[in-house]
Amino acid sequence: MRVSIIGSGYVGTTVAACFADLGHEVVNVDVDQEIVDAINDGEAPIHEDGLAELVADHAGPDDTGRLEATTDYAAVLDTDVTFVCLPTPQNDDGSIDLSIMEAAAEQLGTTLATKDAWHTVIVKSTVIPGSTEETITPILEAASDKTAGDDFGVGMNPEFLREGTAVHDFLDPDKVVLGADDERALEDMYAVFDPLIERSDAPVVETDTRTAEMIKYANNGFLAAKISLINDIGNICKEFGIDAYEVADAIALDDRIGEQFLRSGVGWGGSCFEKDTAAIRAAARQQDYEPAMLDAAIAVNNRQPTRLLSLMDDHVDVAGERVAVLGLAFKPGTDDIRNSRAIPVIEGLQARGAEVVAYDPVAIEHMRERFLDIEYVDTPEAALTEADAALVVTDWEEITALDEEFDAMRTPVVVDGRRAIDRRDGIVYEGLTW
Ligand code: UDX
Repeated sequence: MRVSIIGSGYVGTTVAACFADLGHEVVNVDVDQEIVDAINDGEAPIHEDGLAELVADHAGPDDTGRLEATTDYAAVLDTDVTFVCLPTPQNDDGSIDLSIMEAAAEQLGTTLATKDAWHTVIVKSTVIPGSTEETITPILEAASDKTAGDDFGVGMNPEFLREGTAVHDFLDPDKVVLGADDERALEDMYAVFDPLIERSDAPVVETDTRTAEMIKYANNGFLAAKISLINDIGNICKEFGIDAYEVADAIALDDRIGEQFLRSGVGWGGSCFEKDTAAIRAAARQQDYEPAMLDAAIAVNNRQPTRLLSLMDDHVDVAGERVAVLGLAFKPGTDDIRNSRAIPVIEGLQARGAEVVAYDPVAIEHMRERFLDIEYVDTPEAALTEADAALVVTDWEEITALDEEFDAMRTPVVVDGRRAIDRRDGIVYEGLTW
C-alpha cells in the first residue's frame, strides 16, 4: 500500500518508519522543515529505541527507500490511505482541544477535492468518542465536496505505544483496533495492517470509530487507575508497617489481577495518563456523568508526591538545607519531564525553603526550562554530597545502583518513591509504601 502519515511526532514518525519496514511505501507529512530534512537524511528526528535504525534503513538521500518526508500536503494524493497522527492538547478545563486536528482535516479535505479515486483517512490521534464521526468527517466532506462512505473512507485506529519502547510496541502489539464506519475503509485498514497482523499474530478488534476512540481512553484510564489503586493500597500498607511489594507480588498471582502495573510509588507521569483521563472526565461531565473512579485516580496520583515529602518531614526539617532530587524524567529511558512527579516534589521542597540539587542522566535540560532557580548536577554523587535528605523520583539504573555514595550526605535521610534503593545500615531509609 501507499501510505501517508500526517505528523512526525513520536507516534507519527514511529508509525511511518514501522509501516515502511512492513513493506509499504510511506510519506510522512509535517510542517516542521527540520524534522522533514532529518528524515530525508535518514535520521530519526526523535529518540526512540530502534527508530534510528529503521529510518536509516528506509529513508535517506539516495531516494531508493520506502520512507520519505515532506511539508507538502499534496503528497497524500499519491497514496491510498492517510493516517492522522497529530497532537490533541488540553484546554484549561482539561477537555480536549481538537483545533490542530480540525485544521488538518480542512487541509486534507481541500487536497483530496482534486482526487478522483477512493481514499481512506484514518485518525490515529487520541480523540473523544464521536470526534471522528461528528467533527473530522464533516470537515473532510465540506472541504473536499465529497461524501464519506461513497467517495472516501474514514477509520479510527488508536495507538498504544509507550515512550521509549514505541517501535517494539508497534511491531509486537497486544492488539490491533480497527474502527471503521464503512466496509471499504475497513478493507483499506486491513490492507495496511495485514503484514503486521501476520507477523505479530496480534488479535484484531473490528469495531466502529466511536468504540475505537473509547477503547483508547478505557485502556489508559484503566492503567492509570490500576497504579493509583495499588498506590492507595500501598499507602495503607505503610500505615500498618506492611511491605506493599510483598502484598502486590501475592495479589499478582491472581490471573484476574496480573503482575503488571503493580509497582506502588510516587505515581505516574508522562503525557498520556494525565491528559487522557482529564479529557474523558471532562467529556463525561458534559454528559452529566461524574466519573468517580477516574477522579480518584487523579487524586491519589496527586497525593503521592505529598506523602513522599511528608515522610521526609518526619526525619528532617529541610528549611535552608540541601536536598537531593534523584531523577527528573517521568520514567527511566526518556528525557521527557511532562507531568513528572519530580515537578510537585521540587515545588514542595521550594515551599519548605530547601536548597534543591537535582540529578538526572538525560532530563536536566528540559527541567531547567521549568525550574531556573535550582542546582543541576551531572552525577548522583555530586547531588548527594553534603545533602540533608535525598528523594528518589525516577528508577534509572544509575540511581538503583547507588550504595556507598549516600555516605557523602550530611544527614543520610533517603526517601524512596520508586523502591530503587536498598535499606542498609548507615542511612535512614523510608520507602513510600514499604
Ligand atoms: C502510557 C501507556 O502505557 C501507553 O499505552 C499509552 O499509549 C501512552 O501512555 P507511557 O506514558 O510512555 O505510556 O509510560 P508507561 O511506561 O506506561 O508509564 C507511565 C507512568 O506510570 C510512569 O511514570 C511510570 O513510572 C508509572 N508506573 C508504571 C508506576 O508508577 N507503576 C507501575 O507499576 C507502572
